[in-house]
Amino acid sequence: MPRPIQAVIHHAALTHNLARARACARGARVWAVVKADAYGHGIERVFEALRGADGFALLDLAEAERVRALGWRGPVLLLEGAFEARDLETCSRLNLWHVVHREAQIDWLAAHKTHQPHRVFLKLNSGMNRLGFAPAAFRSAWHRLDALPQVDEVTLMTHFADADGARGIAAQWAVFEAAARDLPGERSLANSAATLRHAEAAGVRADWVRAGIMTYGSAPDFPEHDIARWDLRPAMTLRSQLIATQDLQPGDRVGYGSTYTAARPMRIGIVACGYADGYPRHAGTGTPVLVQGLRTTTVGRVSMDMLAVDLSPVPSAQPGTEVTLWGCASRGTVLPIDEVAHAAQTIGYELMCALARRVPVVVA
Ligand SMILES: Cc1ncc(COP(=O)(O)O)c(C=O)c1O
Repeated sequence: MPRPIQAVIHHAALTHNLARARACARGARVWAVVKADAYGHGIERVFEALRGADGFALLDLAEAERVRALGWRGPVLLLEGAFEARDLETCSRLNLWHVVHREAQIDWLAAHKTHQPHRVFLKLNSGMNRLGFAPAAFRSAWHRLDALPQVDEVTLMTHFADADGARGIAAQWAVFEAAARDLPGERSLANSAATLRHAEAAGVRADWVRAGIMTYGSAPDFPEHDIARWDLRPAMTLRSQLIATQDLQPGDRVGYGSTYTAARPMRIGIVACGYADGYPRHAGTGTPVLVQGLRTTTVGRVSMDMLAVDLSPVPSAQPGTEVTLWGCASRGTVLPIDEVAHAAQTIGYELMCALARRVPVVVA
């Protein structure tokens, strides 16, 4: 028998979350962001559920090939654009739209031989200082692109650093508006957090929203808001089973480093899940977990292949009992991935992307 651990990708949840993005986008088109192999869910596994999107946004040419191989003929956007000049040949062959964020990418386009002009997304650095032209250089970049026979449409884009928090989007939005003011072309600004939190501003929704994390059922602004608040559903469940139980007396310790000491007689369960499965090692005692659909917590350190849970709320638990590390338990209880991530001082994005290859995945 294989180890009982398994990840489940929920099609209905993906479709629901995409519909939520569409509702928030209020008429804007929706990119389903499927970079990092669909945030760890697997491009091929999510494709059918997300084919109602207006396009797929991703990073790698190899991922773009996979989306085309699935039969998708609609828009595909490379969010970081070409990494070298010859990438443009693949863009021509696969009809990929691509971000242009620095001068060299315009030079490559100018030298590129293509019968089919490219659609590009010109990126402004409005304050995040990651990718994009500085506001003073944005206009001249636009004019350079506009003059190239290799380019047909230029969409204007930027990316918000603080759409999920108190700082918000106002300052970066103002920079974008000033730089893009009288330039023609469609616009794309909003990630999930901006789509959810700033949807009332038509200028922020603009022509295209880029829905990443919300598609997968994680709240970009947890713990301020959770998925219930945003009406999102977990797209991934990580589930396993108990493979042993232990009865502890006061003073007994648990796991490597003996970081947990029982204060009372208690029963714990040993779960077939560890950091080699992608469960965060930094999730300390007290991290929420569902046993038989009932909430309890982990105790002690997470080891490579196992972790321990407090069975006090589930006295009937025994080897073989279902354990839900995040997502949906069989009896319907939901443990948002964001809660586990928060306990491990990280974010849902990281946990879903880190699901280990050794974990078998099924689509439900
Ligand atoms: C340019 C760009 N747009 C959109 C997204 C999607 O962001 P989120 O997953 O927060 O919706 C990302 C992700 O980092 C991105 O880099």
